[in-house]
Amino acid sequence: MNNSKQKVLITGGGSGIGLALAQKFLQHGNTVIITGRNLSKLEKVKAETPDLHIYQSDVTKEEDVKKLIDQVQEEFGGIDVLVNNAGIMNLVDAGNERNDLQKQFQEIEINYHAPIRMLHHFLPQLKKSKHAVLINVSSGLAYVPFAQAPVYSGTKSALHFWTLGIRPQLKPHNIKVVELFPPVVDTPIFDGIAMEENKNINPISPETLADLFWKDFIKDKEEITPGMSFQLKLMSRLAPKFIFKQLNKLPVPQK
Ligand SMILES: NC(=O)c1ccc[n+]([C@@H]2O[C@H](COP(=O)([O-])OP(=O)(O)OC[C@H]3O[C@@H](n4cnc5c(N)ncnc54)[C@H](OP(=O)(O)O)[C@@H]3O)[C@@H](O)[C@H]2O)c1
Repeated sequence: MNNSKQKVLITGGGSGIGLALAQKFLQHGNTVIITGRNLSKLEKVKAETPDLHIYQSDVTKEEDVKKLIDQVQEEFGGIDVLVNNAGIMNLVDAGNERNDLQKQFQEIEINYHAPIRMLHHFLPQLKKSKHAVLINVSSGLAYVPFAQAPVYSGTKSALHFWTLGIRPQLKPHNIKVVELFPPVVDTPIFDGIAMEENKNINPISPETLADLFWKDFIKDKEEITPGMSFQLKLMSRLAPKFIFKQLNKLPVPQK
């Protein structure tokens, strides 16, 4: 795998983990393209880091993704690395009939359907690359569900299984498939979420996560499980009921 001079596209790269990964790829001499829905957020990032290339593009919108493919093809001649990072997390009480169903379906659209859409449309560009890599950002919660976010946990588990399934399929096409399982990272994904209810969780910074990711990425690791994610993986096999109870002392969101 080549770790520099690659053209890297990161969905949802305007904040949090995506932005920290974007900075990391930039530091190592890659061309980095980031996307997101909120243009002013991307423009602010661009003002701070002019080397980043920004495109307003919603991963759930077919027309946006098709336009992005054309733009990236025209400006850069295609991509080598696709990072499926865009994601949202909602706290949901499945016992509440007043839940917003569309909001739950949107979470599935962004977190699970969109990576499938992105790969589908970027496949021709990846196939043309000599060092193609697909990086899916799932979660430690792919191993042990967080009951307060049941739809989110389901999407990450689905993303994990999809990743396992496509890895051997893409290998003959020389597309390497990497999965990053972040632990709890201090990012805007928790904005508006009452995390004080989950005091036992100690988030790491997005920059620390990007450092840990890079160390394993350059060693050609296929599964990158920093910090608590490794423990969740291990415990989900050794003592699944115990670790589920530990993680879910408060299964229903309080607010
Ligand atoms: N933070 C954690 O503890 C943690 C742990 C495990 C896994 N993860 C995963 O890491 C990934 C990044 O999350 P984060 O924590 O860095 O949160 P974040 O800062 O909120 O980043 C998510 C990004 O996705 C973008 N996005 C959301 N919906 C989109 C859409 N429809 N189209 C395009 N972009 C979209 C957002 O930008 P716009 O709103 O401008 O579109 C935002 O920049 C997610 O997949 C998340 O599930 C996070």
